[in-house]
Amino acid sequence: MTRGVIRGARIASVGVCVPERVLTNEEISRTLDTSDEWIRARTGIRERRIAAADQAPSDLAAEAGARALQRAGLSAGDLDLVINSSLVPDMVFPATGAVVADRLGATGAGAFDVQAGCSGFVFALAAAVSFVGSGMYANVLVTGAEVVSRALDWHDRSTCVLFGDGAGAVVVTGDPDAAFTFDLGTDGAGMPFLNMPAGGARLPASLQTVAARQHFLTMNGREVFRFATRAVADSCTTVLAAAGVGVGDIDLFVPHQANLRIIDNVAKRLGIAPERLFTNLERYGNTSCASIPLCLAEAEETGRLKDGDRLLLAGFGAGLSWGTCVTTWKTR
Ligand code: ACO
Repeated sequence: MTRGVIRGARIASVGVCVPERVLTNEEISRTLDTSDEWIRARTGIRERRIAAADQAPSDLAAEAGARALQRAGLSAGDLDLVINSSLVPDMVFPATGAVVADRLGATGAGAFDVQAGCSGFVFALAAAVSFVGSGMYANVLVTGAEVVSRALDWHDRSTCVLFGDGAGAVVVTGDPDAAFTFDLGTDGAGMPFLNMPAGGARLPASLQTVAARQHFLTMNGREVFRFATRAVADSCTTVLAAAGVGVGDIDLFVPHQANLRIIDNVAKRLGIAPERLFTNLERYGNTSCASIPLCLAEAEETGRLKDGDRLLLAGFGAGLSWGTCVTTWKTR
């Protein structure tokens, strides 16, 4: 069973942090054999943010987390747990979440990381909602934080143009009247299609791995594209049925912002009208685990997302993994 309903928790607030530096397609095409036209037509991306040399995922996550706490009217001391999700964390260990908790001053909180590729935010949210819904914890901070730019081969035009840096955070808090329905899945046989080969225990860092450029993200774009369109549409159908709602009941669909062609394809398969679909990858690229909270914050700020709206979230990525969720937005 991959799906289930969890009652007793809601998202109280969302906060974000994106680096100041904007890198446009135009700028990339000055040093790489690509063009703004190709990137926009194949992906929908126009520009992305790039972290400063001294910024790591935990720096962006701590800032996003502080903003989310402030909006929830809570302090770091109110947190019981911090769960971070990153495609590329600060280090292999310790958990980036532990660094975030320390930076926030959440000294009483436990902390750990979720590694589920770009689905990480939805998996981390499911864990947070489970902890709060079970009554074990009162307030859990979920962060999705990325400096993917550091893990890209900037000579590989088929990957480096796709990604960007940023972080988002949500506070999950108890509420007897709230509920989430999740569908989480993985297909580990898809490992070869999206990975970073070296730097872990299987292929430790060495002069050879550096020379072979094995510390960068590698991807079979066509396989990932095929997987994403099928798996995300299927999982959305599953989670909607498990939640007992029709696609027409969804006020806003927020998919992982990987590629506009994948998103449009999924929305079309599901029958979701364009006005109920949220995208911002044109300005941020694929920010991996940060993409969904970046969308939630912007949707709320621009009035596209209001209390009482029914949300459908969909993450997908390395693993290969997918995670979808239906809930009602309820910040008060
Ligand atoms: N600029 C110009 N040409 C390019 C570029 C570029 N940036 N990148 C690739 N090309 C070329 C290729 O070299 C190829 O040329 P060739 O025919 O002479 O060999 C041609 O364009 C077509 O390449 P394809 O790979 O077939 O292009 P496609 O239409 O499949 O688009 C893309 C590539 C955009 C990567 C697409 O496959 C895709 O979006 N896949 C999904 C990727 C994704 O979303 N990944 C993230 C998952 S989430 C996570 O967990 C990280």
